[in-house]
Amino acid sequence: MAHDLIPIYLYSRKFLVPEGSTIITALEYLGFKLKKGVGCKEGFCGACASLYRLKGDYKLRGGLGCQTVVQPEMQIVQIPFVPAPKAIYNIEELKPDPEVFVRHYPELYRCLSCNTCTKICPQELQVMDFVQAAIRGDFEQVANLSFDCIMCGLCSARCPAEITQFNIALLARRIYGKFLTKKSALLEQRLKDISSGKYEEGYKELMSLSKEELKNRYFSREINFQIT
Ligand code: SF4
Ligand code: SF4
Ligand code: FES
Repeated sequence: MAHDLIPIYLYSRKFLVPEGSTIITALEYLGFKLKKGVGCKEGFCGACASLYRLKGDYKLRGGLGCQTVVQPEMQIVQIPFVPAPKAIYNIEELKPDPEVFVRHYPELYRCLSCNTCTKICPQELQVMDFVQAAIRGDFEQVANLSFDCIMCGLCSARCPAEITQFNIALLARRIYGKFLTKKSALLEQRLKDISSGKYEEGYKELMSLSKEELKNRYFSREINFQIT
């Protein structure tokens, strides 16, 4: 089905693209070969952070290029990446203590509670709330509130205090997962089984199957969601 063409501006230059395109599909329609600033095209990888303005609207808006539908007279720029500092640490040497944030992300404590990060998050996460939870040392709340973060960096790009919310949340989730959550007995057992070579024969057999046989096995597999 043919689509009407609408005008958009990329880096201030005017182009005509099909109505209903996303920013990424509009760029591809125009012949740009995208090597950076794109990945899954499904809203999961966080690679396609884009900034834009709408006609007659003073606000600088942000969104995922693969999920944001173009609008007439939209002014668009893509961010190749968000150059956010990322602390290097050995998780084995850390403790579930707020001190880890003081040591690795001291800028956390500059938060102005402006909520800009929450407003721009394409995942609609309560970003300011998890930043405040990190300040209080509540690892569980940071982990829960940031669980769907796709590390797009838009929150950090707009933060007046230059906080890297997504890296702080990643550290909190790692600490929460390693030190504060209940261990899964099934997972522990499975890891032991793998180390002991229990599945080696099975792997060899799978490797000898044709693509068709592998597909059949995959679609007829039993899924066990038991959690302990
Ligand atoms: S944008 Fe930055 S300063 Fe504002 S609430 Fe979020 S983390 Fe705090
Ligand atoms: S919290 Fe920040 S990095 Fe994570 S999805 Fe939201 S805007 Fe992107
Ligand atoms: S390309 Fe992966 S989230 Fe947009």
